[in-house]
Amino acid sequence: MLDSTSRRVKKLHIKTYGCQMNVYDSARMADVLAPLGYAPVEKAEGADLVILNTCHIREKASEKVFSELGRLKPLKERDGTMLAVAGCVAQAEGQEILARAPYVDVVLGPQAYHRLPELVARAARGAGAALDTDFPVDVKFDHLPAPAAGQGPSAFLTIQEGCDKFCTFCVVPYTRGAEFSRTADAIEHEARQLVDAGAREITLLGQNVNAWHGAQGEGLGALVRRLARIEGLARLRYTTSHPRDMDDDLIAAHADEAKLMPFLHLPVQSGADTILDAMNRGHTADRFRAIVARLRAARPDLALSSDFIVGFPGESDADFERTMDLVRETGFAQAFSFKYSPRPGTPAAMIERQVPEDVKDRRLAALQALLKEQQDAFNAATIGRTVPVLFEKPGRHPGQLAGKTPWLQAVHALAPAEFAGRVLDTKIVALAANSLSGVVVDSSVEAGERRSA
Ligand code: 5AD
Ligand code: SF4
Repeated sequence: MLDSTSRRVKKLHIKTYGCQMNVYDSARMADVLAPLGYAPVEKAEGADLVILNTCHIREKASEKVFSELGRLKPLKERDGTMLAVAGCVAQAEGQEILARAPYVDVVLGPQAYHRLPELVARAARGAGAALDTDFPVDVKFDHLPAPAAGQGPSAFLTIQEGCDKFCTFCVVPYTRGAEFSRTADAIEHEARQLVDAGAREITLLGQNVNAWHGAQGEGLGALVRRLARIEGLARLRYTTSHPRDMDDDLIAAHADEAKLMPFLHLPVQSGADTILDAMNRGHTADRFRAIVARLRAARPDLALSSDFIVGFPGESDADFERTMDLVRETGFAQAFSFKYSPRPGTPAAMIERQVPEDVKDRRLAALQALLKEQQDAFNAATIGRTVPVLFEKPGRHPGQLAGKTPWLQAVHALAPAEFAGRVLDTKIVALAANSLSGVVVDSSVEAGERRSA
């Protein structure tokens, strides 16, 4: 029987940093704590338990954790708020967290989320700080509950975790461990649950999502085709991919699977072969160009996104210009670009020829200006066109809904709440701040996902 304390609704605040995998993981942590009476709240203030789900990818991201912990310490002292640090900083710097912030109650790595209730209960008993940063990722997926309904029309599903690629700048192989693929059956089961709960679009997630492979050695293309058969599911996406794992079958799936959206995030990092080699990316700039050409032949309206690093150790002005050339030639609808940040324990951090900060700043500004120009041009080109929009949630203003085009552009349109979850032909009429304004053209039928560029 429940006692009165466990029957009280306990307030849970989760603050998420970093990638979509962390967003997914945060939702699963909330799921796993629900049976203990924890309900999510917006603010840390007044919460019984605060979880920071952290990111270790760049120095700035991990330093944020320690400053946030400093801000949370008074809550702990005043209200007894329990503090937990999860995610990749917990994995990589668990001991350091306990040393620098001894008031933290629970430290757990990304593979230990199914053990959260036990760790929280142990900390609540006053048994001292609990640390769990073990690695058996398969156990995590076996033990997490089914995803709770309520992700809405656009849902995320983790199909793969970890990475064996060991790019020399990256901490992921150390924090998330070796590549692990969930089984196709488990993925399809979860996808059907999401669709039954109202999902129309599913984004398949993985640090190296196109390294996914099934028990018979089948690749992501086969999985996409299998999931595309789910009735009611309108759209599929996957992120983040590596150029090396863009195999023929996956490229073919872009040609013949209409539910697979024509937008791909394909990080290239640099346009200079010497730098790509020093990064251990395993491909040249021309190989990337060739993959893009084949993808565009398969799906002419495909839009691309990418990640770039400027100021990798040893990067010369000429190397950087090769990156600029690659961007000019390829054309990106959207992109993320970063200054190289040396991460402890990674090979590139040990290279002596580090690039000075002011040079990195200059290169980043030039690259971002070019990428912004391309993004603005891409968005401007949709004005006047009618495109299918999946409406997802209330928009910025009353009476509006927000949705996405096939190319992941945010759209706001006047539409009644019951249009949420529908894919409707929408005329794009203007550019607004960070989104497009549209007018629903025909709400009587579900739009076909068009192929015209
Ligand atoms: N410094 C800068 N950017 C990095 N990324 C990963 N590691 C680093 C680093 N040490 C970027 C890469 C990757 C994205 C998720 O973060 O571009 O694709
Ligand atoms: Fe990091 Fe490279 Fe693996 Fe991507 S492929 S997670 S950048 S090591």
